[in-house]
Amino acid sequence: MESDSSESYMKNGFVELSHISLRPLELSDIDDFMVWVSDPKVARFCPWESYTNKEDGINYIKTKVPQHPWFRAICVNNRPVGATSVRPNSGNDMCRAELGYVLASKYWGKGIATQAVKIVTKTIFDEWPHLERLEAVVDVENVASQRVLEKAGFKREGVLGKYFIMKGSTKDMVVFSLLSTDPKT
Ligand SMILES: CC(C)(COP(=O)(O)OP(=O)(O)OC[C@H]1O[C@@H](n2cnc3c(N)ncnc32)[C@H](O)[C@@H]1OP(=O)(O)O)[C@@H](O)C(=O)NCCC(=O)NCCS
Repeated sequence: MESDSSESYMKNGFVELSHISLRPLELSDIDDFMVWVSDPKVARFCPWESYTNKEDGINYIKTKVPQHPWFRAICVNNRPVGATSVRPNSGNDMCRAELGYVLASKYWGKGIATQAVKIVTKTIFDEWPHLERLEAVVDVENVASQRVLEKAGFKREGVLGKYFIMKGSTKDMVVFSLLSTDPKT
């Protein structure tokens, strides 16, 4: 397998957290992007199906990413290994926004998503001064994602029963929040 700059930070299975950063996703990142969007393990708890061809990936980066209000690649040594996004609301709901994140499965379990979420929480309230609440809604079975939010300082607020239809099944979802006034870890 090709040795790359992100792998050089995975020696002995560890990633130096200071080498994790967020940046816009570019079309030139397509091959890295395809690694996680084509992986059914990654898509399992996400509303989208894993991608089966590169054209869909190119189309997503060309058309959806530029339209998204806040979409960032999660990078190790500037190379994308996942993505995080914050979806704002409008009108009377503009005080809150929804956080999402995905990571290529090869990089799971190394603290990368937690570090990425911490970067988001330290910046998003400054970027959007009207924002008072960042929330995430997670499948009750997605224990890793719940743990990420807990480690990043989010409060588990409860379970929303039969809240969301994911791939044909109605799911109970756990809702987490971090308020603008909460400490950022
Ligand atoms: C969820 C996801 C982002 C986590 O990324 P990650 O970089 O592996 O997360 P971290 O390493 O920062 O933390 C994961 C934590 O979950 C724990 N964990 C993982 N799987 C677990 C399981 N099955 N049961 C209990 N804990 C689990 C890990 O031990 C770790 O906690 P710890 O540090 O206390 O030991 C990644 O698994 C992913 O991309 N999944 C698919 C997409 C997805 O589910 N996105 C979120 C949608 S809401």
